[in-house]
Amino acid sequence: MNTKVNICGVELKNPVMTASGTFGSGREYSEFVDLNKLGAVVVKGVADKPWNGNPAPRIAEVYGGMLNSVGLQNPGVDYFIENDIPFLRQFDTKIIVNVCGHSIEEYTNVVKKLQGQDVDLLELNISCPNVSEGGMAFGTDPLMVEKVVNEVKKAADKPLIVKLSPNVTDITEIARAAVSGGADGLSLINTLTGMKIDIYKRQPILYRKIGGMSGPAVKPVAVRMVYQVCKAVDVPVIGMGGISNAEDAIEFIMAGATGVSIGTANFINPRATIETVEGIEEYMRKYDVKDLKEIRGIID
Ligand code: SIN
Repeated sequence: MNTKVNICGVELKNPVMTASGTFGSGREYSEFVDLNKLGAVVVKGVADKPWNGNPAPRIAEVYGGMLNSVGLQNPGVDYFIENDIPFLRQFDTKIIVNVCGHSIEEYTNVVKKLQGQDVDLLELNISCPNVSEGGMAFGTDPLMVEKVVNEVKKAADKPLIVKLSPNVTDITEIARAAVSGGADGLSLINTLTGMKIDIYKRQPILYRKIGGMSGPAVKPVAVRMVYQVCKAVDVPVIGMGGISNAEDAIEFIMAGATGVSIGTANFINPRATIETVEGIEEYMRKYDVKDLKEIRGIID
């Protein structure tokens, strides 16, 4: 049985990884999760300087998921290089760095600092809905997407995966723009913008009013978008959005995803990633799937 997958020339022992922003840098979860068993750890967004994120409240529970407006709080790339890379390198897993910025220059600064560092892949975050500059503001305009990807790619010495926003009319247009800008792979979906109102206080729950929705309720939207993108472009896709278990992950693989990321489910079940790895193996044994290639993208 072969669970290995190849993402932009990097071989992962299995397709299961963490979704950026839901797993810190892995340290927080390492008590519960054997990181050696994961295909990759995708770390929380890393910026060129430390960011404080947005004021609280910045999390709200909703039916079938949650809203967040964290605002990419992070200690910055220098801290990441000094502390998180050495920590993660103790484990036999791949490291994917989610790169964030308010401007092309800030994104490029991070990627330049990561040149020569011991990480495997970069994930360009042009899809966070919780910052007023950069993030989703860049990722919803195809011309801008192509330009940012093109500029960042020039500075990157690792394959560049571009993380897409679902908050667009036609996800395939954005996917094509990213690929024509030089993306080596794509990941999707980031969160869907949403809002929750406290009817007793007569005010939004989140300080920033609008946040990003994730969790099981967004899964059908994510599967649809992954399916459409996999039909539209010819680069590896990492699928995510509401994956909680192996059945969910296999849906994404059948829709065409090479890798799968688990996000919100980590908050409910810290072992969701490991159980998904085990569940995929069990499915492969039970249904005599020798290689994940046999089921990848099998939906016409
Ligand atoms: C956040 O930190 O606001 C969430 C991260 C993201 O949506 O990319």
